[in-house]
Amino acid sequence: MKIDPWSSTTFQDYIRLRDEFGIQEFTQDLWNDLPNPHKLLRRGVVFGHRDFNIIHDFAKKGKPWAILTGLMPSGKMHLGHKMVIDEVIYYQSLGADIFIAVADIEAFATRGITLEQTKKYALEEYIPNYIALGLKPEKCKIYFQSQHQDVKDLAYILGKRVNWSQMTATYGFSGSTNMSHIMSPLIQTGDILHVQLQQFGGVRPTLVPVGVDQDPHIRLSRDIAQAHRLYNVTITKDNRVGVFVKVDEEVKKLLDNAEEILNKLKFTNLKRITEYKALYVNEASEEDIQKIDFALALSEPDFGGYGFLQPGATFHRFMTGLTGEKMSSSKPESAIFLTDPVEDAKKKIMHAKTGGAVSLEIQKKEGGKPEECMIYELFYYHLIEDDKELEEIHTSCTSGKRMCGNCKKQAANLIEKMLVDLKNKRNAAEKNIKKYLF
Ligand code: TRP
Ligand code: SF4
Repeated sequence: MKIDPWSSTTFQDYIRLRDEFGIQEFTQDLWNDLPNPHKLLRRGVVFGHRDFNIIHDFAKKGKPWAILTGLMPSGKMHLGHKMVIDEVIYYQSLGADIFIAVADIEAFATRGITLEQTKKYALEEYIPNYIALGLKPEKCKIYFQSQHQDVKDLAYILGKRVNWSQMTATYGFSGSTNMSHIMSPLIQTGDILHVQLQQFGGVRPTLVPVGVDQDPHIRLSRDIAQAHRLYNVTITKDNRVGVFVKVDEEVKKLLDNAEEILNKLKFTNLKRITEYKALYVNEASEEDIQKIDFALALSEPDFGGYGFLQPGATFHRFMTGLTGEKMSSSKPESAIFLTDPVEDAKKKIMHAKTGGAVSLEIQKKEGGKPEECMIYELFYYHLIEDDKELEEIHTSCTSGKRMCGNCKKQAANLIEKMLVDLKNKRNAAEKNIKKYLF
């Protein structure tokens, strides 16, 4: 199995996907002690992660961490696109520094639209909606890939540690793939890692909230981050924690530095073996690795390194289209766009696929199937905040007390409220856009 971030396949079996790619399960202990956990986290829409436990730890302790995500400005923004920004806004409330990349270079390279068009979609669709949904300008930067010299430079520099076999194995590129497309994963890696450069806040845990189709980019970024480290901290075969210098220059200085840092962390029983470029930490155990690694990473810029920590990620499920197929901008009847006129949105809801039975009689007797219902999915992902209320909808549906007609009306009313509210807030947002732009 391969995940192709540019294909239009739908994902069905999220559990299999998770297991096959070593994505970790997004379990309750990762969110239940955070303030006001977001419904997408509580309800398992975010179903997988990489290294969220580190983010959880930093958020709880009020230590600095960052969010970096991107938007593809190749069309109008619909409810499927809303999920990432809902997550981002939640993480902003937890104290994260927010960075958002407008993937104009990627849209140009892979979707064949002009940079001019991408600008319009970003400035007239995405950014006003982000603000309307509640994104705050404090500690928040939105930038265009094409305008960000540091990101582009980093992409070029990071490319030195990736070879063509790795790219073809990850993305299935072929001889006819255009070179700009081939560069775009490196630009995305530049996006993801640039927030750890000194001038953008320095080495710190970074979380990338995305749809699971983006996992190849996450894996690439994690590999590249690791490849640029000066130190490697691991458990050795004889079960000790070892700090290894990965480069051949200034080995003595780097070992001295590691020794000093370990001493500060109260590890004093150290054994240095210079031929192995190694320092064994006798009192440390596996649980100390993250702490040691972080302290060493912070010092790497002093020695000409980057100290990039591997970026973490959360992965959300995709919404099904209202028609029961994939939700897609190219099929307007499958999606509710945030700029849809209320009447259009209501019509789409009235025509949506439900989990209702073939007749009212049968539905009263046997109940409906919320798991197969696009209306229920709207409630679940976007329209109902309260978990109890959602549960009541579920039970009244499966028990045959709730009928689809009224249920759709309820969804239509809630959508109307949301769209009208967003429209008002978008109008108010327009004059504030500059505050967000990098
Ligand atoms: N490739 C992403 C998409 O197709 C957009 C994107 C660009 C992105 N840079 C990013 C996502 C960095 C996450 C992190 O939607
Ligand atoms: Fe869906 Fe509501 Fe019908 Fe149940 S009653 S199948 S939730 S539309």
